[in-house]
Amino acid sequence: MPLKQSLLIALWLCFAAFAQVGCLNFSYPTFQREDEESLLLYNSYVVFGAIQVTPDVSSGPLITDMSGRALSRKPFKLWRKGKGNSRIIASFNSTFVINITPKTVPGGEGLAFILTGNTIRPENSEGKWLGIVNANTNGSSQAKIVAIEFDTRKSYEEDIDDNHVGLDVHSIYSKKQVPLIDYGVNLSTGSNITVKVEYDGKNISVFVTLTNETAGEMKNPVLTMPLDLSDLLPEKTYVGFSASTGIHTQLNCILSWDFHSTNISENPNLLWVWITVPGIVALLGGGAAFYMYWIRKRDRENLEDAYPGIEEEIQGYSMGPKKFRLKELRRATGKFDLKNMLGNGGFGTVYKGVLGNQDVAVKRISKNSRQGKQEFISEVTTIGSLRHKNLVKLIGWCYERHELIIVYEYMPNRSLDKYIFSDDQKLGMNVAESMVLSWERRHRIIYGVAQALDYLHNGCEKRVLHRDIKSSNIMLDSEFNAKLGDFGLARTIQQSEKTHHTTKEIAGTPGYMAPESFLIGRATVETDVYAFGVLVLVVVCGRKPGYQNENSYNNSIVLWVWDLYNKGRILSAVDSRLEDFDRDEIIRVLILGLACCHPNPHQRPSMKTVSKVLTGEADPPLVSTEIPSFVWPPMPSFSDYTETGQPGGQITPFTELTGR
Ligand SMILES: *[C@@H]1O[C@H](CO)[C@@H](O)[C@H](O)[C@H]1NC(C)=O
Ligand SMILES: *[C@@H]1O[C@H](CO)[C@@H](O)[C@H](O)[C@H]1NC(C)=O
Ligand SMILES: *[C@@H]1O[C@H](CO)[C@@H](O)[C@H](O)[C@H]1NC(C)=O
Ligand SMILES: *[C@@H]1O[C@H](CO)[C@@H](O)[C@H](O)[C@H]1NC(C)=O
Ligand SMILES: *[C@@H]1O[C@H](CO)[C@@H](O)[C@H](O)[C@H]1NC(C)=O
Ligand SMILES: *[C@@H]1O[C@H](CO)[C@@H](O)[C@H](O)[C@H]1NC(C)=O
Ligand SMILES: *[C@@H]1O[C@H](CO)[C@@H](O)[C@H](O)[C@H]1NC(C)=O
Repeated sequence: MPLKQSLLIALWLCFAAFAQVGCLNFSYPTFQREDEESLLLYNSYVVFGAIQVTPDVSSGPLITDMSGRALSRKPFKLWRKGKGNSRIIASFNSTFVINITPKTVPGGEGLAFILTGNTIRPENSEGKWLGIVNANTNGSSQAKIVAIEFDTRKSYEEDIDDNHVGLDVHSIYSKKQVPLIDYGVNLSTGSNITVKVEYDGKNISVFVTLTNETAGEMKNPVLTMPLDLSDLLPEKTYVGFSASTGIHTQLNCILSWDFHSTNISENPNLLWVWITVPGIVALLGGGAAFYMYWIRKRDRENLEDAYPGIEEEIQGYSMGPKKFRLKELRRATGKFDLKNMLGNGGFGTVYKGVLGNQDVAVKRISKNSRQGKQEFISEVTTIGSLRHKNLVKLIGWCYERHELIIVYEYMPNRSLDKYIFSDDQKLGMNVAESMVLSWERRHRIIYGVAQALDYLHNGCEKRVLHRDIKSSNIMLDSEFNAKLGDFGLARTIQQSEKTHHTTKEIAGTPGYMAPESFLIGRATVETDVYAFGVLVLVVVCGRKPGYQNENSYNNSIVLWVWDLYNKGRILSAVDSRLEDFDRDEIIRVLILGLACCHPNPHQRPSMKTVSKVLTGEADPPLVSTEIPSFVWPPMPSFSDYTETGQPGGQITPFTELTGR
């Protein structure tokens, strides 16, 4: 087995061993888009270097009556049973900087640091409920929540004032509250306030200070109380923030956050794990680090060499993308003015620009991103040589003074993710984008993406794997036609190597990655098909792929739809906002989506088959109602339409399902 693969598998196994152990340590000195992957966000999102726990839309009524939650995706082990009836309780420290900016006079309502067993944001928890509980769960131990509230509004009798910190257990009624004005802190002034929460297993203490003071001065807690968290919260507890607005509104931001918990070690039988695993990890980690260093170094050297070659290759296409001067692009985007920013993420920032009388999108690859150059080359060479009506057109590029820039056609309707999620799951929305895409449009979008992928896999001179299919990479033109974009991760494969049709390196977006990706450590035609399958489900259901129900995994949309299919209720997976649709057609598409997400890569249909199913020329592949288990190595497939023969899996011909 190649070195890299064995390393990956070994690391994966060690990681799995570690995942059993519940200590949680992290530190976000600031927040970046990428950090959204490690957080569970409900109405919250990351922008301008902070978590906006409730939405930040500067105009319009959309920030009133909101509640949001942002939690660490990973829980931690708060306590476990010890000998007899005793319990062993972890201690933790968490320091974070909050910034509350009122948008009305006065502002409202408040922000809280929470520890909870329930990850889901309670419905109707806006206003005085601070996203902590709602009228039904207030006061009930079912709420499983302990909160340190920073309340900016006196919203009921017992609230002492509109500027206090309080300790809440299963309710918004505080066990203890302390006015902050005595400590020289006014929450509602938009200043950065540093908070430290300390728990030693017996007492919980809260320190609050204006950030311009040094943390060393946090000697006297504002609030301290004995508290047995093991009585209140489950062994596995999530940590994070909640916040709300009412008719009075404010921006509730977290600027930085770190969290450290002690490790309450597991069963002593596992002691050997603690002795051997760190050793192995250290060894492998060292090996991997060295290997990565070596690869990077080699790639860097290759890259420097590759540069002149690229220019020639790109210029070789007469109709190909144009080489721009940096000057022209600076002028086109108003010197990369933030006002023209369309998006920020992946490996750079995208601006809207005007060249002549044409609107364009200008992607400026971040300078300190190591992968930037590789990405650039991959993007310009792959997409630059492709022509398809469902691929975003590359207009030109620029490489000057270490700036790597790519110019695309401008997509007035931005990306698909802006439209399909229900408000509850949507990031920074604006009014125009809260429209609901009709089924007809969604079907056309799915078909467009299928066509683009079929072209990449089978239609062009060199086979191309996209490797990062997801809703935010599907752009929409003025007629809402889908155009596949962001070829940053794409790799070309020479037709001569087609038998292998794979490419190394794990890449992609959690939730869209096929289960075997982690084991084989490379992308294949089948992993692209899997991601397409997830996209189909996302578009039809209007849900995020990582829709979380308790502690399930990222791609749970697949499990969720499959489960409904098994119960004969697949139609209930359909986005409830869709009104007019052909039921048989939507069922066919959902089943097609499941077929693409088959755990066995050999059972997934090709994009050719997918296109045919979408036009109605072919029936969707048969899909067993029980989700087949992931088996590695996979069973070979005898034909696209036979089953794996999983015991318990029952094959239901598609036609029987529609005959109702
Ligand atoms: C929390 O901070 C206190 C005081 O700085 C320290 O004594 C304690 O060890 C820390 N606990 C953890 C779990 O980091
Ligand atoms: C919330 O529950 C507490 C009991 O924990 C109760 O005292 C308080 O009145 C309740 N508040 C509201 C607004 O229902
Ligand atoms: C806190 O600051 C806000 C905004 O400047 C002001 O309206 C409010 O009166 C202040 N609160 C206190 C208790 O000083
Ligand atoms: C708060 O902190 C951020 C980031 O550290 C800084 O950009 C901002 O100016 C600070 N705001 C205030 C009011 O001090
Ligand atoms: C907890 O706080 C109480 C006072 O509230 C104090 O008497 C006690 O010593 C503290 N316990 C610990 C373990 O710090
Ligand atoms: C911190 O800022 C406040 C106003 O925000 C100011 O009054 C105070 O003097 C500052 N303290 C220090 C140590 O700079
Ligand atoms: C986590 O942080 C705590 C407190 O800072 C420290 O004692 C512990 O060793 C850390 N654990 C890991 C695995 O880094």
